[in-house]
Amino acid sequence: MLSCWSTMTMITFSLSTTSAGNHTDQLALLAFKSQISHDPLRLLNSWNTSLHFCQWQGVTCGRRHQRVVKLVLKSRGLAGSLSPYIGNLSFLHTIDLENNSFHGEISSSEVLGRLLRLRVFALGNNSFTSELPSNFSRNLESLSLGRNKLSGTFPKQLCALQKLKTLRLASNNLTGSLPYDLGNLSSLQFIDLASNFLEGGIPYSIGQLKSLYFLGLDENMLSSKLPPSIYNLSSLWTLGLTMNRIVDRLPSDIGRTFLPNLRELFIGENHFFGPLPSSLFNISTLEMLELSRNGFTGKVPDNMGNTQKLQVLSLSHNNQLGSSGHSDDLKFLSSINSTVLRVIQASDCQLSGILHKSLANISFTQLEELILSGNQISGIIPSEIFIKLPNLTILQLSDNFLTADNSFTGSLPVEVGNFEYLVDMDVSNNYLEGEIPNTLSKCLSLRQLSLMGNSFQGSIPPSFSSLQGLKFLDLSQNKISGQIPMFLQNQSSSLQYLNLSFNNFEGAMPTQGIFQNASAFSILGNNKLCGGISELQLPACPIIKQKRFGKHQISLGLKVAIGVIVSTTVLAALLSGRCWVMRRTKNGFSPANSIGKGHFGSVFKATFHEGTEPVAVKVLNMIDHKASKSFMAECEALRNVRHRNLMKILTACSTVDFQGNDFKAIIFKFMPNGSLENWLHPIRSDDSYLTKNLNLSRRLNIAIDVASALDYLHNQCETPIVHCDLKPNNILLDEDMVAHVGDFGLAKSLQRKNSNSGTTDTTSSFSPRGTIGYIPPGRRPTDEEFEDGLDLHQFCKIALRKEVMKIIDPHVLEHEEEEEEEEEANDDHRDIHLNNSEIQRSTRHESGKIEECITSIIRVGVECSMPSPSERMEIKNALKELLAAKKLYFS
Ligand SMILES: *[C@@H]1O[C@H](CO)[C@@H](O)[C@H](O)[C@H]1NC(C)=O
Ligand SMILES: *[C@@H]1O[C@H](CO)[C@@H](O)[C@H](O)[C@H]1NC(C)=O
Ligand SMILES: *[C@@H]1O[C@H](CO)[C@@H](O)[C@H](O)[C@H]1NC(C)=O
Ligand SMILES: *[C@@H]1O[C@H](CO)[C@@H](O)[C@H](O)[C@H]1NC(C)=O
Ligand SMILES: *[C@@H]1O[C@H](CO)[C@@H](O)[C@H](O)[C@H]1NC(C)=O
Ligand SMILES: *[C@@H]1O[C@H](CO)[C@@H](O)[C@H](O)[C@H]1NC(C)=O
Ligand SMILES: *[C@@H]1O[C@H](CO)[C@@H](O)[C@H](O)[C@H]1NC(C)=O
Ligand SMILES: *[C@@H]1O[C@H](CO)[C@@H](O)[C@H](O)[C@H]1NC(C)=O
Ligand SMILES: *[C@@H]1O[C@H](CO)[C@@H](O)[C@H](O)[C@H]1NC(C)=O
Repeated sequence: MLSCWSTMTMITFSLSTTSAGNHTDQLALLAFKSQISHDPLRLLNSWNTSLHFCQWQGVTCGRRHQRVVKLVLKSRGLAGSLSPYIGNLSFLHTIDLENNSFHGEISSSEVLGRLLRLRVFALGNNSFTSELPSNFSRNLESLSLGRNKLSGTFPKQLCALQKLKTLRLASNNLTGSLPYDLGNLSSLQFIDLASNFLEGGIPYSIGQLKSLYFLGLDENMLSSKLPPSIYNLSSLWTLGLTMNRIVDRLPSDIGRTFLPNLRELFIGENHFFGPLPSSLFNISTLEMLELSRNGFTGKVPDNMGNTQKLQVLSLSHNNQLGSSGHSDDLKFLSSINSTVLRVIQASDCQLSGILHKSLANISFTQLEELILSGNQISGIIPSEIFIKLPNLTILQLSDNFLTADNSFTGSLPVEVGNFEYLVDMDVSNNYLEGEIPNTLSKCLSLRQLSLMGNSFQGSIPPSFSSLQGLKFLDLSQNKISGQIPMFLQNQSSSLQYLNLSFNNFEGAMPTQGIFQNASAFSILGNNKLCGGISELQLPACPIIKQKRFGKHQISLGLKVAIGVIVSTTVLAALLSGRCWVMRRTKNGFSPANSIGKGHFGSVFKATFHEGTEPVAVKVLNMIDHKASKSFMAECEALRNVRHRNLMKILTACSTVDFQGNDFKAIIFKFMPNGSLENWLHPIRSDDSYLTKNLNLSRRLNIAIDVASALDYLHNQCETPIVHCDLKPNNILLDEDMVAHVGDFGLAKSLQRKNSNSGTTDTTSSFSPRGTIGYIPPGRRPTDEEFEDGLDLHQFCKIALRKEVMKIIDPHVLEHEEEEEEEEEANDDHRDIHLNNSEIQRSTRHESGKIEECITSIIRVGVECSMPSPSERMEIKNALKELLAAKKLYFS
């Protein structure tokens, strides 16, 4: 067959096909074709003997010798494996098969070694699974294998490729450390190794790469200090090191003598510490500076006038960056002199200073994002910014100390209406007051608006009816009064979330649009409202009864999820610090005001003066020596953290009481809805309605709140904190049913052992801490059902494998059916006719969704309570899963 076919070829191309090379190339190409299993564009159809192979699509031959020099078939949707016959294309200098679906091995070393003229080898964005090949021609200039599934270590042999200019290996499964000889790649200009599993340090020899302009090592596990030689890379434009474990300072003369041409510096999510050197801003070429989520301390340099090309400045989550009130930390803003600045992110630092002063002189015409939440910024929101920042889309100033001046113009300047492009504005949790400016309605792009937690007064401006794109509106915890405007219901509006709780709204509740869906809005704590959908039960109780799962529900799994995600708690150590001292207390606390008992003391409800908000006072029992330690632990732990789901310490006091005994107390915000424990397992029988009101979405929200708090403590604090005693007793619910994790009396923080070693270590052991059986269950771990080695974890694990809905209280499903009937009835009223099969289909769809949602929640619970800590899911992934479940539930 073969010989017959060859003869035919020779006849067809009878000119001079006798050359062995020509024949070999053709054979090799046909062998290549034979391994392709999928060719959606049918381009290999042209690879047939009626055409000379030099005219086949994707093939280029040398003009003189008619041998294949290039094979370029990128983005053609080809699937299959790579034939070893390509090793016979001995004139080949370029092979480019990027962005297809090739799988299996990249050819063996022996095969690739035969391609002596190879200069470009580009197989990126396929699905190759072999180890990274290394036997390449010394002529290789570009090796591009990113986005495959290549494993193994970075081969030393690659370092011999003196002509290599481009090396793209990002997004593979490479492990091990970088070879010491990396610096021998003396022609290298571009190296991207991001998103692998590389560990260890960066080799010193990297400083020899004099032509390197791009170095991408982001998302690996690289640790220890940077080699000082890295700062000698004077050609470097981009240095990417985000999401590694590098522990280092930035040299104080960076930029003055080093990296003079740097455009992009990405070092977020590492363990950099120490001050931000002001010389960094001598680099006039700087465009992007991403320094977030490190441990930088001290002041932000305010000599940014040189960086006139700066586009992005990200400093967020350096929670000791700033002077904590000792100087004006916002000066850096007014020092920026870049007309191309697009993004300023500096949330969750320790920045203090006065906003209006800092923004007075600036004029960032291109600024799109200004994020300064979670600092100690004070002053008013200056009207200038609304004029000088015409292109702002995101403004986040929440959790600061912004106050309003007392003028009648209101706290938010009317100029806010100039923000034509504003998409997201969050000024929640400040001290703003006055009326909501009706000019806000000119911000026609607005999708999210949060004014929560201020003292806004007056009513919702009627002009808000023009905000047709608004999806998220949170006006809760203000002093807003008047009626809830009807237009909120009849806009074909995109409104998906509306929080009006804890204001002074009055009158009739709208019932259409968003107001039909009790889970999409909240009007809690508005005592003068009436009417509305029946689920609201307005006069009876402020608890919203939700449409789905109103009455009966208990889902063991959900309780498990809430509780068990906490068992991921990890390591610990100690911070140094002090607690604030409050004036000594004269009077004792009445047992009548006792609201709980902790490990080392009791908690009382108290008010300082008539008419002020109640607080919770935790008084430590000083007879117990451990209580003093616990007091310190709690102060230490909560000293530097702030998060919406952590209990906020208002103050603490350490003094002697009137009998001369030690007196230590911590004062928290009072949580009107008490502990989760009381909702899950009410002690008083007249509290049993609480459990019924704990519906699926509430449970899910609580689980998400707790997971967010833990994620923050574990992953987002500079010094990770481990709670060590998480249980429903220590989860407190505020007036909005937002969960706050409290009682840090046994918490530990993780200490860096040695800043050079790059390792983190624990000073505490894994011996059990806290309450016995503190993995809080739905059924308690002592439930009779759990014997003979069956525990809650096993119980749910088994249910996951079998039928997860069986461990859910049947009432949940019963109620679902009731709900459907109700909906059907409503539908009749609206003259919408569905036939039976359609109703069944949609019912099945709904319950499928709920089952899927519950299953994924239980799976999180099970994975978080694996017996061995190393097998447990990371809290950040648990959080992701829960958020996905929530999205599914509300979809
Ligand atoms: C061979 O390729 C040519 C060019 O694409 C095409 O016109 C012809 O139909 C092909 N012949 C066969 C037998 O597929
Ligand atoms: C085959 O190769 C020889 C020399 O290597 C060349 O002269 C000739 O043009 C080639 N013929 C074809 C049809 O490729
Ligand atoms: C990759 O290939 C797909 C088709 O398989 C195409 O849609 C896509 O645009 C290509 N991507 C690039 C970056 O070329
Ligand atoms: C080409 O390569 C294959 C596999 O690598 C080999 O089996 C074959 O003998 C080689 N030679 C020719 C002339 O095809
Ligand atoms: C990689 O391949 C995926 C899937 O074919 C495609 O969506 C994507 O655009 C490709 N990316 C690049 C950079 O080619
Ligand atoms: C590299 O390729 C050459 C040529 O095929 C071969 O002789 C040599 O053994 C290969 N080396 C390795 C380490 O595979
Ligand atoms: C690559 O790594 C991921 C994550 O560790 C793993 O799930 C996957 O199985 C690995 N793939 C290969 C081919 O090794
Ligand atoms: C700001 O930059 C402009 C050039 O864009 C320059 O002329 C001006 O002197 C700079 N101002 C300061 C205060 O550095
Ligand atoms: C604002 O943004 C728009 C598009 O986003 C752009 O066309 C315009 O030039 C920007 N305006 C200014 C003053 O930079």
